Amino acid sequence: MPPLLQASGIVKQFPGTLALDRVQLDLYPGEIHAVVGENGAGKSTLMKILSGVYTADAGEILFEGRRVTPSTPREALQLGIAIVYQELSLVPPLTVAENIFPGRLPTNWLGFVKYGQLFRDARRVLDDLDVHIDPRALVSDISIANQQLVEIAKALSQNCKVLILDEPTSALTEREVEILFSLLKRLAAQGVGILYISHKLDEIFRLSDRITVLRDGQYIGTVKTAEATTDMIIRMMVGRELGSMYPAKADEIGQPLLEVRDLRLPGSSAKINLVLRAGEIVGVAGLIGAGRTELARAIFGVDPITEGQILLDGRPISISSPSEAIQHRIGYLPEDRKAAGLFLDMSVKWNIESVNRPAVTSYGFVNPNREAELARQYISRLEISTPSIEQEVRRLSGGNQQKVLVAKWLAIRPRVFMVDEPTRGVDVGAKSEIHHLLRELATAGVAVMMISSELPEILGLSDRILVMHNGAIVAELDGHAATEEQIMHYASGQAAVAV
Ligand SMILES: Nc1ncnc2c1ncn2[C@@H]1O[C@H](COP(=O)(O)OP(=O)(O)OP(=O)(O)O)[C@@H](O)[C@H]1O
Ligand SMILES: [Mg+2]
Repeated sequence: MPPLLQASGIVKQFPGTLALDRVQLDLYPGEIHAVVGENGAGKSTLMKILSGVYTADAGEILFEGRRVTPSTPREALQLGIAIVYQELSLVPPLTVAENIFPGRLPTNWLGFVKYGQLFRDARRVLDDLDVHIDPRALVSDISIANQQLVEIAKALSQNCKVLILDEPTSALTEREVEILFSLLKRLAAQGVGILYISHKLDEIFRLSDRITVLRDGQYIGTVKTAEATTDMIIRMMVGRELGSMYPAKADEIGQPLLEVRDLRLPGSSAKINLVLRAGEIVGVAGLIGAGRTELARAIFGVDPITEGQILLDGRPISISSPSEAIQHRIGYLPEDRKAAGLFLDMSVKWNIESVNRPAVTSYGFVNPNREAELARQYISRLEISTPSIEQEVRRLSGGNQQKVLVAKWLAIRPRVFMVDEPTRGVDVGAKSEIHHLLRELATAGVAVMMISSELPEILGLSDRILVMHNGAIVAELDGHAATEEQIMHYASGQAAVAV
């Protein structure tokens, strides 16, 4: 059988970055082909070239044996190549249905949109996906996970022959991942070729037929998944062996720093009590909707606290806004970097100093040398891959954007640091760097609270684990002894009645 898609010698140069250097890739009908590599390896760039977002500087793309040069996403779609982007591309003020059929709304002879039909069509596409989202809902009102599913529905509604998914599961729950995987397998069985980008190697091993590895814009190789091992893929990706995955846990835990007393989250009747101590990493586990992010937001002053109290160093404090939290040197790295964390149109430098103006200001003026020094310091500490401190954050790869966000919060030198899904979208190497960094912070006396949906991360890093369910802390487990089964047991609410 001839390949459906065959790319060879693909070159893409951005100012200051050779993103792709003679890269090749082929895809057969019915194949699920994973593309992996560290942050900035060129995966998204390659996919954007195949789907007409960028044009390659050199190289050739054959589609069903014919040479093609899709120069817009619309042209690629007409060929049958659809893409689900790494960063969501939906239009929040419009309905789910309008987002699924952009530019293809059914209209009557007067040109008015036939909403009845639109909603019915959208319902059918969503039903096929087995997702339960109201086609009439506004995208701005649904969760990130659901937005991701709408994005996939949008791509699937176009009867594509090649479906490209760029980190589609980073915001999905396990159940949603299962739905997506069975859908992808069904599509592959129908002959669709699927290109699948992910940093989650376990997913890739479960799902893919072949794996192509990129490193620093170079093509490293393609292997059959059945003949590959995790170690082998990691070695191809990073070009070296990775040390032990998780840093050692704390020997010694210090004084209580932050205490939460009888806090009640909106919509819950439970009262939350917790203590974060200097030197420890407290993992907060739970399913989506358990109230983990709401807890962090309440402590950080994003949402007003209606009931309960927060103490710092044993003294009650009132935090009614994030800037007050920052004054107390409490940092919060939010889960949704695009909406809440980063200013995509601003430079790396600007983002790093954005919550940290005093450090770069003297006598009321911004000191450019200090500004540059601060940025350089964190770029090198976190190994952020960027051609300069002036680069717009939008132009960095997804994982490097995440590192800029981490840098921004480290720059306030937090005493209490809350991180929400800190390694979402970052590669194995950078992930391990972030883990070591969080441990370093703890060792230096910071109280770290880490919200994560990845159980291995919670278990690997936490000294203590809090499990949330329905707005309440339903269990506190020892980070040395806890197991995934235990956490899931409490997170799913099975034990909630007994507490
Ligand atoms: N529009 C752009 N302008 C300038 N440089 C860019 C642009 N898009 C990507 N780059 C650079 O090209 C390189 C490859 O980026 P790309 O987004 O393809 O990486 P990736 O493999 O998808 O990484 P990640 O896993 O972090 O998403 C990076 O160094 C990135 O900074
Ligand atoms: Mg990418």
